[in-house]
Amino acid sequence: MKVLIVGSGGREHAIAWKVAKSPKVDKIYCAPGNAGVAQYAECVDIGAMEFEKLAAFAKEKQIDLTVIGMDDPLVGGVVDVFEREGLRVFGPRANAAILEGSKAFSKDLMKKYHIPTAAYENFDDPEQALAYLETAKFPIVLKADGLALGKGVLICNTLEEAKAGVKTIMLDKQFGESGNRMVIEEFMTGREVSVLSFVDGKTIKTMTSAQDHKRAGDGDTGLNTGGMGTFSPSPFYTEEIDAYCQKYIYQPTVDAMAAEGREFKGIIFFGLMLTADGPKVLEYNARFGDPETQVVLPRMKTDIIDVFNACIDGTLAQTELEFEDNAAVCVVLASDGYPVKYEKGFVIRGLENFEGKDGYYVFHAGSKKTEKGIVTNGGRVLGVTATGRDLKEARANAYEAVNWVDFDNKYYRHDIGKAIEEA
Ligand code: AMP
Ligand code: GLY
Repeated sequence: MKVLIVGSGGREHAIAWKVAKSPKVDKIYCAPGNAGVAQYAECVDIGAMEFEKLAAFAKEKQIDLTVIGMDDPLVGGVVDVFEREGLRVFGPRANAAILEGSKAFSKDLMKKYHIPTAAYENFDDPEQALAYLETAKFPIVLKADGLALGKGVLICNTLEEAKAGVKTIMLDKQFGESGNRMVIEEFMTGREVSVLSFVDGKTIKTMTSAQDHKRAGDGDTGLNTGGMGTFSPSPFYTEEIDAYCQKYIYQPTVDAMAAEGREFKGIIFFGLMLTADGPKVLEYNARFGDPETQVVLPRMKTDIIDVFNACIDGTLAQTELEFEDNAAVCVVLASDGYPVKYEKGFVIRGLENFEGKDGYYVFHAGSKKTEKGIVTNGGRVLGVTATGRDLKEARANAYEAVNWVDFDNKYYRHDIGKAIEEA
């Protein structure tokens, strides 16, 4: 069969790698892809938001299955366009991708269906938001309603900071239209864990857990980024916590979406906080996580094509989903200065060192093929993943492999997975 993957980051590279392992797949295309994805897929120069062009391409090439990696096209309705054209596609329709596309929607859904999450209020009017803050407890969390590249969340320690935050989001529109509405919510403390799941509208099957490191600097300092590294599984995500989440969070979310007439098919990514009062939902995403995918898929045993098909056909309950009993760590190699200002176009050396090395992966996040060779082309450049029998071994392996590749201004965190030492 022929598969089209839509997206251009490390997540899509990991998806393409996993899809390529399926004996059912003869040919992979990726739009727009990157220099790493190009090892498995023919990259085509169509943007992820060019829905009509993507659908026309899928028709022309007789693509059997399209997999959408990114959030923007899902929220924008790419799946609806593909379905209208009679094309087979993996991902939620726009009316279900709203689970990620609107934080106000997802908070209201959780409240209505008693799914544990932080207490909150939604606001359309900045004056009302400011008035609410006068009596609020601090710290407090402000969130732009819509997609904001993971940047629309402000944690405010004082009333002054929070007032300035309302201005940033709702008046200055720093996160664009996504700041037309805002959620103000209670600040929670605890460990964060990411749980990705496959959903077929009724049944949900969770993948192994992972933890992201969102801050740019060692020791969780500096600005929030798209993610500087991950490990899987999370040792803090115990069987007991899993059982609680299956019962009170995962299945109830799928059932709530169905009850609202918004049947969810695709990936639900649960961003959880393990608080003293039990696990609570921080956020939902309607797609694979980046860089969570880079540690989760290398541990997945099952043929991913079978699982994609089961989600589309509504047969997930009858489908096995298995993971290796090992661990994986991914260290993101970024361009110095990310996430603010950084240079691009430096030659990446040493990629060949990963060839033929079982259990070691170099997933490209921002790279480009040029006459000089493969060069850096983004803030996050590569995700170096290694597996191991346990987290400690995976971590040692990943940090060894980080030295196999090099480029000017290479920057990475040294403490990815360090928290496992406390477990
Ligand atoms: P989100 O995009 O909603 O996952 O938020 C980004 C990050 O902000 C999360 O990964 C948390 O570290 C933090 N965060 C979001 N909501 C809260 C909250 N209610 N309490 C504490 N931290 C939060
Ligand atoms: N790693 C967080 C995300 O993909 O949103």
